[in-house]
Amino acid sequence: MSQNNVSRRGFIRSASAGAAAVTAGVVGAYGSSAEKANTLAVLGGTPVRKEPFPVWPQTTAEIEKSLVAAFRSRKWGRTLGERRHGSGQVGQFEKRFAEMVGAKHCLGTGSGTQSLHTALHAVGVEAGDEVLVAPCTYLASIQAVLMCNALPVFVDVDLDTFQMDPNKIEPLVNENTRAIEPVHIGGIPCDMEPLMAVAAKHNLKVVEDAAQAHLAEYKGKKCGTFGDLGCFSFQTSKVIACGEGGAIVGDDGELMEKCYTFHNIGLSSDGKGAAVGTKYRMHEFEAAVLNPQLATLAEQTKARNESAAYLAKRLEEIPGIKPQKLYDGVSQAAYYIYGFRYQKEHFNDAPKEKFLRALRGEGIRFTTMYFDELNKQPFIENTLNSRTFQKIFPKERLRQYREQNHCPSNDQLSAEGVWLPQYAFLGGKELMDDIADAMAKIHENREQLARV
Ligand SMILES: Cc1ncc(COP(=O)(O)O)c(C=O)c1O
Repeated sequence: MSQNNVSRRGFIRSASAGAAAVTAGVVGAYGSSAEKANTLAVLGGTPVRKEPFPVWPQTTAEIEKSLVAAFRSRKWGRTLGERRHGSGQVGQFEKRFAEMVGAKHCLGTGSGTQSLHTALHAVGVEAGDEVLVAPCTYLASIQAVLMCNALPVFVDVDLDTFQMDPNKIEPLVNENTRAIEPVHIGGIPCDMEPLMAVAAKHNLKVVEDAAQAHLAEYKGKKCGTFGDLGCFSFQTSKVIACGEGGAIVGDDGELMEKCYTFHNIGLSSDGKGAAVGTKYRMHEFEAAVLNPQLATLAEQTKARNESAAYLAKRLEEIPGIKPQKLYDGVSQAAYYIYGFRYQKEHFNDAPKEKFLRALRGEGIRFTTMYFDELNKQPFIENTLNSRTFQKIFPKERLRQYREQNHCPSNDQLSAEGVWLPQYAFLGGKELMDDIADAMAKIHENREQLARV
């Protein structure tokens, strides 16, 4: 509780009494600091946190130098030979990122979305195929499937871990299922062992959406290296960021060459290939901004994990706040976002919106999931009704698809989920304490939520 007159313990101790007085209308103008500490800030009390969160993205002297060097080099786009020789900003980035995640190859792209589209195309997802994917994700994971004219078949989530439930995958496999697209949501690894076992049993390709999971590990192996291909994003909010940017990693040289060709307007790396393709190349400025960040990523990841472990312990004290759990196999998380469920029954039945207003008032920053109930968003139904999808998929399959497209656990997660941003976890214990104290204060004073 930064620069607050009331000590952490003092605030907890006096909270109930103060809150009761306020509710009863005994205290008129919340005069004393104790009264203010026990009044939700959104109702005029003293906020738990007054300092800003750490800034993101970071603008270091190293990044600036690297960017200016790329600018002055007058070589702003990548050239063919550089991929083979690991030179140029993009070539260097690909080489170092592949090493860091433990993959044989890496291909830079213009975004995570482009990476997913390219990877799904490369593993052979085509019109009429089906791809199993979780509904708790960013819309790009789904759009990439639709861009291949394939059906995204939603696997409901596990309410403890917020990830695709590995036990719910197999019943959804049919003769048209081509791939599984696990999304390591929050930058926390999915339960890869059972998931890969289902893929192997049914001969399915696996394209990992590791857009949020840089350096996350399951049983000591990095996310993005379990499946046939792994896709990353370097969009501004990510733990290494360059505005927009992405990468695909993989061990299979032939598959990576297919990715290269597709992302390079159908031209293979020897300049000869003749296949369908688009232009999804990473440019030198993006890589110039990313390269210096590779030096700090491991250290920052460690700091985020330490902060997250500390916060999880503190949140155990607060009824109705349920953080996203890690599977036993998780040896390191990326914590791109730190998720928790808000259970209103422990907060006087106050709707999530009121809790969030109160949390913001206490000086805590958060994000909600970008798209609640993603499996029900209109872009899916509109695509099913498109001329292309009507031509490709039998009417009966589309009828069945609509009928089966229910993810009750994800609906609950959408209603209850709240996410804290990754940069908060660079703020150390002090910021973690403020987050936990803010939630404890709201819980202690939950009857005030009715007036928020
Ligand atoms: C899970 C997930 N998949 C895919 C993407 C798409 O990445 P990009 O925004 O770089 O296209 C994102 C970006 O936020 C994401 O969070």
